[in-house]
Amino acid sequence: MSFPIHRARRLRNSQTIRKMVQETQLRPEDLIYPMFVISGKGVRKKIPSMPECFQLSVDEAVKEAAKAHKLGIPAVLLFGIPKHKDDLASEAYSDKGVVQQAIRAIKKKVRNLVVITDVCLCEYMNHGHCGVVKKGRILNDPSLELLAKEALSHVRAGADIVAPSDMMDGRVAVIRDMLDAHDYTDIPIMSYSAKYASAFYSPFRDAADSVPQFGDRRTYQMDPPNRREAIKEVSLDIEEGADIVMVKPAMCYMDIISDIKDLFDVPVAAYNVSGEYSMVKAAAKMGWIDEKKVVMELLTSIKRSGADLIITYFALDAVKEL
Ligand code: PBG
Repeated sequence: MSFPIHRARRLRNSQTIRKMVQETQLRPEDLIYPMFVISGKGVRKKIPSMPECFQLSVDEAVKEAAKAHKLGIPAVLLFGIPKHKDDLASEAYSDKGVVQQAIRAIKKKVRNLVVITDVCLCEYMNHGHCGVVKKGRILNDPSLELLAKEALSHVRAGADIVAPSDMMDGRVAVIRDMLDAHDYTDIPIMSYSAKYASAFYSPFRDAADSVPQFGDRRTYQMDPPNRREAIKEVSLDIEEGADIVMVKPAMCYMDIISDIKDLFDVPVAAYNVSGEYSMVKAAAKMGWIDEKKVVMELLTSIKRSGADLIITYFALDAVKEL
């Protein structure tokens, strides 16, 4: 394989040839659009740290979901911002909760759109942690029951897929048990399996109003320097019944996406998180990068690294380029 017999540039001669030998293709079906649902009516509240993202009341969320569906995006991922927070995350599993209302309304109006829900307690807890807290500690086992109740309540409202993001040990198994016990054996679980304790989540915590009131999430989310541990987390989740596994964040963790894609035979999702979104938006606003080109390169690279599905706030913009 040496020059001058071989010239790699031959296959880059024109846009047509480049397209013919293109190895990775991003498709609209690869994208999942996250949305934040808030109480009220006609509310479309800007999120300052995430330009062009909004907290939406149920009626507005329906419009936004319809827009996504029309553009060819197959699924949305819903996050709820409750009116009332307490130390048992009561609104997380209330039939009248804001996410439950949104699921029902979207499923009614936007029929073929897949509705995925984030199953976590942090938005609903007054202390902002993803589990039950006692004496300053985040307790694993008492949190499981609440998470299972939350997942069941989402599915009862009509969710097509549930996505636990709390990182408590054993939550996929209890959610699977709970769903099966209520005859929801066909509802898939998309588990946030390798979710790192990342500084890239801070814009999201403004968006979802879920900043921990003390400490941080390092006792439950993964330590960023660890690679092999991600394999352990994914194996455990698959054993417990996860149908899709997720790596989060995406940009700095493409080695993890790649490992997991190679080692396991379930679909891999990657979460292009809030901080990754806001960095691109900020640099584009300064005129330092071409936003459209950077976004397409970023999403294509996430797919190239092995992601079958990409959760991204750029979904509506990206799909227009495909
Ligand atoms: C809830 C949750 C978080 C994100 C998704 N689900 C925040 C966190 O763990 O602190 C982050 C999403 C993003 O940054 O875009 N636990």
